[in-house]
Amino acid sequence: MSAPDRNADNLARLNAALSQRFGDAPEIVAGNDFLARISAHRSHRAFKDEAVDPKLIRQVCAVALSAPSKSDLQQRDIVIVSDTMLRKKLNALMPDMEWLPKAPALLVVCGNNRRQRQLHEWRGRNFANDHLDAFFNAATDAAIVLGWLVLAAEAAGLGCCPLSVIRNRAQQASDLLGLPGHVFPYAGLALGWPAGEGYISPRLPLAATVHTDRFDDARLRDLVEGYDKRRRYRSQRYEAEYGRAAEYGWSEDKARQYSKSERAAFGAFVRKKGFNLG
Ligand SMILES: Cc1cc2nc3c(=O)[nH]c(=O)nc-3n(C[C@H](O)[C@H](O)[C@H](O)COP(=O)(O)O)c2cc1C
Repeated sequence: MSAPDRNADNLARLNAALSQRFGDAPEIVAGNDFLARISAHRSHRAFKDEAVDPKLIRQVCAVALSAPSKSDLQQRDIVIVSDTMLRKKLNALMPDMEWLPKAPALLVVCGNNRRQRQLHEWRGRNFANDHLDAFFNAATDAAIVLGWLVLAAEAAGLGCCPLSVIRNRAQQASDLLGLPGHVFPYAGLALGWPAGEGYISPRLPLAATVHTDRFDDARLRDLVEGYDKRRRYRSQRYEAEYGRAAEYGWSEDKARQYSKSERAAFGAFVRKKGFNLG
């Protein structure tokens, strides 16, 4: 492909992905292969029966750990699950993810505030930040690395799906992975060679999520109603209890989801890890 053709192709792919993603896609003014690829992101939950080279997994980890980190504190780590028995035990902690056992690889991204505290011990310096920020910054660093792991994996042609369900049984996951105090599982990441194309999941319109100068959600209800029409689901959550809705979009799905308590014990787990959340 010639350079002008490649440029036109990148612009067209970017435009196609963002138009599918948003009802109010922005005008495309800059395009390249990287932007086109990340705009077409999709989670994958079905994989070919083909192993992923452990060297590739390590490379993907290295790329992801090149992400920015709050104050360069680097308060996040990745556990690569390689042991078959351990993997089975971790799968069993996430029984709702019935597709997970067929995912060739599993990583666990952890927040790690332990290392910082060790530095204080070694350097004989008081640790004066034993409050919510210590947990928040480690969780933020872990979240950034999870995002970059997704980007790196997809750029390598892999498919992946984050797994916050690992926190449903955070203590058991922590015990299995040998996580010490001030280290907590943030999310799993299932990885493999995608079995299919997957699909671009529509997002809320930019009118609802990108603000200029001042936060403004005055039109939110209308915008969500419009989004609901673009965002349809194959199955309905808790149908036995809430019935089958004729129109079932994002707002109904999310309201049904959070009508049930999720991870109510996570705060207690984090406190037990030694974090002071005050
Ligand atoms: C922090 C985080 C945790 C997630 N946890 C789960 C999970 O436990 N199970 C799951 O199937 N998907 C999980 N996902 C994937 C989301 O459901 C998915 O990103 C979302 O539906 C949008 O779809 P897309 O990634 O294909 O655009 C998670 C995503 C993130 C960012």
